[in-house]
Amino acid sequence: MRTARLTIDPAFTIGPVDRRLFGSFVEHLGRCVYGGIYEPGHPEADPLGLRRDVLALTRELGVSMVRYPGGNFVSGYRWEDGVGPVGDRPRRLDLAWKTVETNAFGLDEFMTWAAAAQVEPMMAVNLGTRGVQEACDLLEYANHPGGTQLSDLRRAHGAEQPYGVRLWCLGNELDGPWQVGHKTAEEYGRLAAETARAMKLIDPSISLVACGSSGRGMPTFASWEATVLEHTYEHVDFISAHSYYDPTDGDRASLLASAVDMDQFITEVVATADHVAARLRQTRKLKISFDEWNVWYQSRVQGDLDGRGWVEAPALLEDDYTAVDAVVVGDLLITLLRHADRVGVAAQAQLANVIAPIRTRSGGPAWRQSIFHPFALTARYARGTVLRTEPVSPRYETKRCGDVPVLDTVALHDEESGELTVFAVNRGTEDLPLDLDLRGLSGLHPVQHLSLAAGDAPDAINTEAEPDRVTPRELPTATVDGDRCSVRLPAISWNLLRFAPRP
Ligand code: AHR
Repeated sequence: MRTARLTIDPAFTIGPVDRRLFGSFVEHLGRCVYGGIYEPGHPEADPLGLRRDVLALTRELGVSMVRYPGGNFVSGYRWEDGVGPVGDRPRRLDLAWKTVETNAFGLDEFMTWAAAAQVEPMMAVNLGTRGVQEACDLLEYANHPGGTQLSDLRRAHGAEQPYGVRLWCLGNELDGPWQVGHKTAEEYGRLAAETARAMKLIDPSISLVACGSSGRGMPTFASWEATVLEHTYEHVDFISAHSYYDPTDGDRASLLASAVDMDQFITEVVATADHVAARLRQTRKLKISFDEWNVWYQSRVQGDLDGRGWVEAPALLEDDYTAVDAVVVGDLLITLLRHADRVGVAAQAQLANVIAPIRTRSGGPAWRQSIFHPFALTARYARGTVLRTEPVSPRYETKRCGDVPVLDTVALHDEESGELTVFAVNRGTEDLPLDLDLRGLSGLHPVQHLSLAAGDAPDAINTEAEPDRVTPRELPTATVDGDRCSVRLPAISWNLLRFAPRP
């Protein structure tokens, strides 16, 4: 049987884990807001209409930050429609998802929800149909203490203290022809730079994200980033990246290698940003905000949109996630962690119902999809510093990503607790023996092996009737021989291996 090897030495580090890597995303799309996080009249709803069961699951998921209000939605959104007395708010056509937006939920409700969920808000401004002035107005409403029309309007709406939103996205996916207000890189780069300059005059403490490509497969990928950054480099803190992996074609071997594509994508965006920095004589290294990523059965979307009129909050993009999808999500998180030196923010898209780890029935219960589990465990146990490792692994051939390793892994050392955590994915269809050499951490012993294995029932999903069908299981911990440990990773599995100092 083929064996993989991993040598761990805390002397070799990549960087500390930023908690902002465990972000999520709430868009006015389908039932993410209406019927997801917000449902007045639901038995679990608080007086504002926020679903307490979804809030509890959000906290359990360990989400650190939530991006809002879109997504494609933001490119036609007028933020001021969503503030003030609910009865006075206009109903609008949402062109992005061909629905009617009631505006019953808006900025102030989101801020209340974010505080209850204990997450940092990340706001996106509309640079599709709007521009510098409207972005400044929104920032003034949200962050200016008072004494101006818009900050006093916020206070009149009940928020005496400024929200102090630190993270702001300069639009969304403006490279995509589907985007309302789609732009060339030149047009967007200029607008983003001017908006950034003005926003930082209002609040210099904010961090700004320029839109990168909406996917590595876009024809303009890399040249878009280069042009946008030529305009914006000195004004922004992050460049965004978005990536979704579609299981619809049934090529499971390729799907399981999705993280190889994400890894390459990150490397290419970093190379492009560093190239622009060199040209502009900038020494500050730009980071990536990977603010949309997930598994998404994207080729089914058109079916969701076709043949219906303008309706409120229809069920859209409500993918049921399999055990294999959960392994892929765990692997994407491994990749984000391994790039902790250059990926400073990340958001899984999305939080509730829409391509989401949390699923609800309107008027009914909420439950955890399979992909909930690797996210929650990674957010909980990825502490300290990411270590630089060179795993040795058998390899296999895929259609989409070529020759890839069977093992993917990341190791973290928490100097405070002394714990070592290893996340490991076995992409192969056979069990994989893994030998660990803990040469720099010889005082540690294995305390836990949790595994979410998809080998026996790859298409299993969690449903309202059977919400715990796909969950991680405890396995025997690694066997120890001096500084060496051996553990078996089940076929197609995501694994959490924890090691602690001997008592
Ligand atoms: O997350 C769903 C959609 O995917 C978002 O609205 C958009 O930004 C992306 O294309």
